[in-house]
Formats: sequence, structure tokens, C-alpha cells
Amino acid sequence: MLAIETSCDETAVAIARGDSGEILCGAISSQIALHQPYGGVVPELASRNHNLILRPLIEQALGEAGIRPADLTAIAATSGPGLASSLLIGNTTAKALALALRLPFHAVNHLEGHLLSPFIGDPGGVRPNLSLVVSGGHTLLVHTRAAGDYTVLGSTRDDAAGEAFDKVGKMLGLPYPGGPEIDRRARRPGANRAAYDLPRSMIDSGDYQFSFSGLKTAVYYLLQKLESPPGEDTVTDLCASFQEAVIDVLVAKTLAAAADTGERLVTVSGGVSCNSRLREAMTAACHSRGLDLRIAAPAYTTDNAAMIAYVAAIKQGLSADPTRLDQDIDPNLGLGAAG
Ligand code: KG4
Ligand code: ZN
Repeated sequence: MLAIETSCDETAVAIARGDSGEILCGAISSQIALHQPYGGVVPELASRNHNLILRPLIEQALGEAGIRPADLTAIAATSGPGLASSLLIGNTTAKALALALRLPFHAVNHLEGHLLSPFIGDPGGVRPNLSLVVSGGHTLLVHTRAAGDYTVLGSTRDDAAGEAFDKVGKMLGLPYPGGPEIDRRARRPGANRAAYDLPRSMIDSGDYQFSFSGLKTAVYYLLQKLESPPGEDTVTDLCASFQEAVIDVLVAKTLAAAADTGERLVTVSGGVSCNSRLREAMTAACHSRGLDLRIAAPAYTTDNAAMIAYVAAIKQGLSADPTRLDQDIDPNLGLGAAG
């Protein structure tokens, strides 16, 4: 099958085996350089670029996988959540391909793609787990009983974890997106995670809600008190201290939710799960409690089409009906809603 992902600023195409979900090829064209001068994603630029790139990327993916269009058995695309004008490009292209090739079309929920991405390539398939999804748009704790059977335990009241990374990166004058840059800085020798005492918002709230806007504001006020512009070492220590505050909350709430649900397997996915310190801290925390941990492979953490193909293959395996071609995209699609 062929799957397309265009929910935000990455154009991605993957070819996977329709029966097992084995990924044969994943092609991604990143638009980071295009949006960098604006310090964030410009929706109009994103959709125009998806339109330009998608067809050559489909041809490239088919070529790399050694598959002819006539060999395809199904087409899938992300139908939400995401930017409407970006979702439309991938979704409409996928529907047109399905119509022309007379193939079933599967609309896939982007969040379900992230959520199940830790199981890509796992011969055991999806197992019950407590899932943390941390991306630029979402921070979710989910009880996953099986593919398609989800209970959202908590989410963020304001900024998503990745959004907080990006906004703090911007405040510190770092290039967009801030997340990977803060991660790199915090890894520098001598970076001090305890240099600044920043708030761990809602860490003791007793529920699974998150809030990161207070932390962002705390960094803002701290910057007013420090030398302007802040020196290299100050920026590095701020990166390490901010990152630690986010990760402390993510790890604490994830472990509490695992204990509450009784799940022995924890999964972590989404762009922020690429963060080296989060991977390290979550690994240590799960190890100390005797919990199994699966974090999405780095290539499947940020937006990609392999995770969309994987969900579509699972749907086919469960004999789910194909999606009607007149079903529209849904920029606000939640988890648990029909994909
Ligand atoms: O999953 P994703 O590609 O897009 C959404 O669905 O939102 O996630 C992108 C987010 C961005 O906010 C980016 O800064 C963050 O993931 N990110 C990271 C790292 N790599 C990507 N955040 C922290 N550390 C990283 N290494
Ligand atoms: Zn995403």
C-alpha cells in the first residue's frame, strides 16, 4: 500500500506491505528550511510546497521500493488533526489515486499514527500499554488496550510539550524548530540541568493534565533578569534547565498513569520522543520500576508516512471498511473518533 502524510510541514510518502505493515520505503521532504525565516510554520507556504513536492515524492518512493502503481493494493492518507490546507493536499491526492487505480482508501488519524509508531517492525504487533504521545501539537497520556481501543487519560491545558520547546527556543534566539536545538545544547559538556530552578507545573496535581505555558513564562521573566543578550553559557544552562523541567513532568505523570492502569508496558512517541534526555530519563525510570519501555525509533518520531501506512495496514488486517471518498478531512480530529 501507499501512504501519504501532509498534516503539517513535512511531505511524506511510504510504501508498506498491506498485510504485515512492513515498511518497504519511507520518503520525507522536510520544509524546515522554508519556514525557518518566519520562526514557525506558515500554513499557506506549507500547502503550496506539499503540492509541488508530493507527486515527485510518490514517484521516488515507488521507485525506491521497486513497486509499480499497478502493484498497489490500497492507498492511505492522514485525514487529521493538522493544518486544513496541508491535510487537503495529501488527502485529495490519495483519494484521486484510489479512484484512478480502483483501490480502497483508508483515512488515518495522525495521532493514532504516532501512538502506534513504537510497534513498527515489532513482530509481536501492538500490545496493551500506557502511551505518552509528545509532539509539536499534542501532549497525551493514553491507555491503549489494543489497536483502535484507546482511552485518553490526560492532555495539555495550553501548550504542547514540543510547542513549549519551540517557543522557548525562539526566546533564546535559537533557530527553528527549538526542540532539536535545545536538545543539542543541553548535551554540551558542562551544561547544567540544575542551573535554574524552573517550575514543574501540575506535577502534583493528581491527574494526567499537563500545562507548559507557566514554564515558558518563567523562562521569559528569568531572561529579563539576566544579562541581555544572554551569554553562550547562560543559554546552554537555560536549555538544560528548561528541558529537565519538561521531562520531569512527562516522566512523573507517565509512571503514575502506568501504575494506575496496571500496564507493564510504556510507549513513547511523537517528535519530542526524539529528545535524547527524555529517552534516557524514561528508560531509567521504567527500568527502576521494572516496566518495559518501547520508544518510537528516531526515524518514526517526527512526522512520517510509515506510521500512517502501519495504521492503515492494521485497519486492513482488522477488515475495517475502507473510508468513503466523500469523507472530509478533520483538522481537529481527536483520538478515539473514527479515523
Ligand atoms: O511529531 P512532530 O513532527 O509534529 C507534530 O505532530 O506536532 O513533532 C514536532 C515537534 C516540534 O515541536 C519539535 O521541536 C519537537 O517535535 N522535537 C523535539 C526534538 N525533535 C523534535 N523536541 C525536543 N527534542 C528533540 N530532539
Ligand atoms: Zn505529528
